[in-house]
Amino acid sequence: MSDPTRVAILISGRGSNMRALVEQRSGYEVALVASNKPEAEGLNYARAAGIPTWALDSKTVSRAEFEAALGAVLRQSGIGTIALAGFMRLLSRQFVEQWTGRIVNIHPSLLPKYPGLDTHARAIAAGDAVSGCSVHLVTEEVDAGQVIAQAQVPIEPGETPQSLEQRVLAAEHALYPRALADFVLARADAGS
Ligand code: GRF
Repeated sequence: MSDPTRVAILISGRGSNMRALVEQRSGYEVALVASNKPEAEGLNYARAAGIPTWALDSKTVSRAEFEAALGAVLRQSGIGTIALAGFMRLLSRQFVEQWTGRIVNIHPSLLPKYPGLDTHARAIAAGDAVSGCSVHLVTEEVDAGQVIAQAQVPIEPGETPQSLEQRVLAAEHALYPRALADFVLARADAGS
């Protein structure tokens, strides 16, 4: 049985949520930061923080090759929980099934509203009074797994997608570490 407190964070870009998960870690250890983009900015922070990193350019290999290599490094690192944080590569049904109930993601909307991209523009265009962010279990369908935590952010008059993104991102940085800590603790208690 893998240890749920050993977490791998998967990123594709700037990695601000990854950084929040590292800085506010509680009850879990960030044992690996992995990326499908070797140039992802967030890898520099992870390296400087002394966290093992792994990267493979997903454009240079097939999906099966990428996931086989990722799966191998996750096993070698004794990972029990995967936290996606701005990871822009879809994971196959086979990969997700191997990790069922052990992968979480942060998404910048109040799911089930606005799965996918451009969430802030869509919330403003719909005239919503409130937006926010969601932490959810990852299934093969994009942004569709069970929601385990949410934070609300009011949409102000004159709001732009950029201004809303900034405030939702701050809410993400507060929500994700708490949600991950709770998720890991519940599974450690349940022996899963
Ligand atoms: C965040 O808004 C996250 O919710 C979404 O992608 C963005 C990643 O930002 N999935 P960062 O790389 O964590 O800064």
